[in-house]
Amino acid sequence: MLRFAKVKLKEKPSSPFSLILQTQYILIMEESLHDFGMIGLGTMGSNLLLNMADHGFSVIGYDKNPEKTSAFEASATKGTTVKGVNTLEEMIAKLKVPRKLMMLVPAGNPVDSVISDLKPLLQKGDIVIDGGNSHYTDTLKRINELKDIGFHFMGIGISGGEEGARKGPSIMPGGDEEAYKEVAPILKAVAAKVNGEPCVGYLGRDAAGHYVKMVHNGIEYAIMQLISECYDMMHHGLQLTNDELHEVFAEWDSGDLKSFLLEITAIIFEKKDDQTQFYLVDKVLDKAGAKGTGKWTSQEGLDLPMPIPTIDSAVMMRNLSSLIEERKEAAAIYKTVPKAIEIDKKEFINQLREAFYFASVISYAQGLAMLTVASDELNMDIPLPEVVSVWRGGCIIRSAMLDQFKKCYQDKDLKNLLLDETIAKMLMQKETAIQKVVSTAALNNYPSAGMMASLNYYNAYRRNFLPTNLVQAQRDFFGAHTYQRVDQEGIFHTVWESGTK
Ligand code: 6PG
Repeated sequence: MLRFAKVKLKEKPSSPFSLILQTQYILIMEESLHDFGMIGLGTMGSNLLLNMADHGFSVIGYDKNPEKTSAFEASATKGTTVKGVNTLEEMIAKLKVPRKLMMLVPAGNPVDSVISDLKPLLQKGDIVIDGGNSHYTDTLKRINELKDIGFHFMGIGISGGEEGARKGPSIMPGGDEEAYKEVAPILKAVAAKVNGEPCVGYLGRDAAGHYVKMVHNGIEYAIMQLISECYDMMHHGLQLTNDELHEVFAEWDSGDLKSFLLEITAIIFEKKDDQTQFYLVDKVLDKAGAKGTGKWTSQEGLDLPMPIPTIDSAVMMRNLSSLIEERKEAAAIYKTVPKAIEIDKKEFINQLREAFYFASVISYAQGLAMLTVASDELNMDIPLPEVVSVWRGGCIIRSAMLDQFKKCYQDKDLKNLLLDETIAKMLMQKETAIQKVVSTAALNNYPSAGMMASLNYYNAYRRNFLPTNLVQAQRDFFGAHTYQRVDQEGIFHTVWESGTK
């Protein structure tokens, strides 16, 4: 079947004929049209498209740079339909309608610039997906702006890095449910699978996809922070070598603690530097970068407000790590040297394992509780059981724990994982270990912000009394901010000291 595709030219038409028409018509064989288009052929974009092609979809990728499009075509699996083009016009003309296309470009202005380039080329009903790590408020603004002119815009979180994109990522779509249904067969085909179930599902209205991905990244920060604290205490406190650290983390990465982050950590401790033949990890500067999603999670947590202190501590520690020159100055003043931890190696490693387990559960609990509240507050209708299910495979925070969390969220409205009886039992069994680890860290001058924040959260959340009655009394004392009573309804104010209003 043949069809005419109308292509509006952005650049000045070269021939007099097209100059008169201002529009170019291309005769296209319907069969040669592609199922899915990608804007941005960086590693993530190319890998995701190649993954789609491997699953039988005919794909087209756009990148300004001809070298990238050629490399993309060259890396296609034999027998798959993969095309690279260097103009948006050509890509749009070669997509089946309604068009389904995704951009994988850096968050912020690049997304807006792609949208403004696309606007004159699209038709009503076309679906445009932002698969990057955009801030959810930007996504919401773009959804509404494009809805008004008849396009579906979806924010979809994609996790799993370059390898995940190629072999099966975790996909977190949100927004227009009808549009989701159109792209679902493609997303389901390419997503990671756990027990045959694809790690993708509709995660709620509006910018829910990007919101869920933001919180995913917050949890990612928290767990990475916890692992780094265990490393610090084992390396400097117990003097474990990199080979031994490899063994410990590889051992932890099994059974109910099995996770992607532990798996890659074990591998890191084996890697030698090409330049020096020393272990590479020892050559990496101790200054952690951040693209922003962890900070956004903390900012949103404060705004809701929902306490997520383990995530906050991870963001804070990355910031503190950047004060590298000041840290050196301070180390000289305080003569800080890591102290040896005088506890039986095996015993302390076991305590660390249990403490890490405990604090990881707390990190997930904080993130999931934040999603539960945000779902209502921001009217996103985020299905928590589905979120947990989607995170079980493909993503950076995938872990065997999520199988257990899935059961906890099944058929019940759980405000917080800590309110589930099996989780409570498990945390109670491990609380002595984290208490010991946190005390050992404190007594030996090891920063352990993530572990401490997790234990504090646990201690505060499970208390039916907190000393905040005193805070309220103080507020009322100096600012007449009023207080409530435990024994009567109403709002009260007291003159706490004669002579004070
Ligand atoms: C993922 C990752 C991915 C990326 C983060 C890293 O889920 O695949 O989270 O999105 O690696 O952007 O974030 P930072 O640069 O802030 O550590």
